[in-house]
Amino acid sequence: MEESALSNRVSVAILGATGAVGTELIELLDERDFPLSELKLLASPRSAGKTIDFRGETLTIEAVSAESFKNVDLVLASAGGSTSQKWARVATEAGAVVIDNSSAFRMDSDVPLVVPEVNPEAASDRPKGIIANPNCTTILMAMAVWPLHRIEPVERIVVSTYQSASGAGAKAMAELLEQTKAILNQANPPTESFPYPLAFNLFPHNSPLNDLGYCQEEMKMINETRKIFDEPELRLSATCVRVPVLRAHSEAINLEFKSPISVDRAREILTAAPGVKLIEDWQANYFPMPIDASGQDDVLVGRIRQDLSHPCGLELWLCGDQIRKGAALNAVQIAELLLQENRQNLSQTATTSKSAI
Ligand code: A2P
Repeated sequence: MEESALSNRVSVAILGATGAVGTELIELLDERDFPLSELKLLASPRSAGKTIDFRGETLTIEAVSAESFKNVDLVLASAGGSTSQKWARVATEAGAVVIDNSSAFRMDSDVPLVVPEVNPEAASDRPKGIIANPNCTTILMAMAVWPLHRIEPVERIVVSTYQSASGAGAKAMAELLEQTKAILNQANPPTESFPYPLAFNLFPHNSPLNDLGYCQEEMKMINETRKIFDEPELRLSATCVRVPVLRAHSEAINLEFKSPISVDRAREILTAAPGVKLIEDWQANYFPMPIDASGQDDVLVGRIRQDLSHPCGLELWLCGDQIRKGAALNAVQIAELLLQENRQNLSQTATTSKSAI
């Protein structure tokens, strides 16, 4: 992103603008008053010509092509790994910075993997002009674990996820609704997005398995957390499960700290953590739920309790909107970091030229 281009307003392209995350990106740019000079909406040829209303204007969706990135400063990509593989370099060669929501570049050592509340500084070192947005379950876990870990180091993390249909995109959400209706009507449910019916069911995450028996989603949580925390040896294990929830993921996290930490201390730390909201009503047995997390920016954390099996262990529960903080919001926050960085560069340039005079 050229400094001059970013001085005031930014030309942004959303690749995957018709998807679940793309739709949320459009909403967030508006909601957060992102300083746009232009917004381009890109998708597959299937969507070309459709229109979306944005800030009082009717924007037409274009089929992505090499021409699409001309004069674009920033690309927010959320159209799947193969689409990012195909277009990210084209966009950076045209001069744009790409914030990519797919897994295509996350483990590339020349591509920073950023959660702004955890490692904002990583965003400024981007030799390929690409910044990767982490996996959704990884972002949500990092939001709750990092504030604790930076004060009271964690030795080991064991996480189980309860992942909603939204993680597989807009089509999977629609399919869950269709399946539910079909089963209630004693008809055969359509199952295209997932290998098995999700309505009234659950199954281990359907991403490919490795030789050790871990699925890709679980390995993403392990490898990406290590990269974001900059701790390649961090011990963690994950079990990822798809559940018949429309939107917002949940996670049960067991943390083993290097030394004992009280539940009250953990609560105090998490209460002060940005982007985290503590929800605990022990009398009412009320804790975070996906329906409360849906559409929210904050990751909801609660049910913090001592692990009865370990003196240095804590258990906690969280829910977070996978489409928002787990994807679109995190990407827009990274874009805001770039704006900030650019403003700082511009003011430094102004100061230097003043002192030179
Ligand atoms: P389209 O709607 O035209 O298929 P989701 O994650 O909700 O499934 O959304 C995926 C997004 O990625 C959609 O906007 C989809 O556009 C877009 N997409 C999928 N394949 C391509 C492609 N080959 N080129 C550009 N955009 C794509």
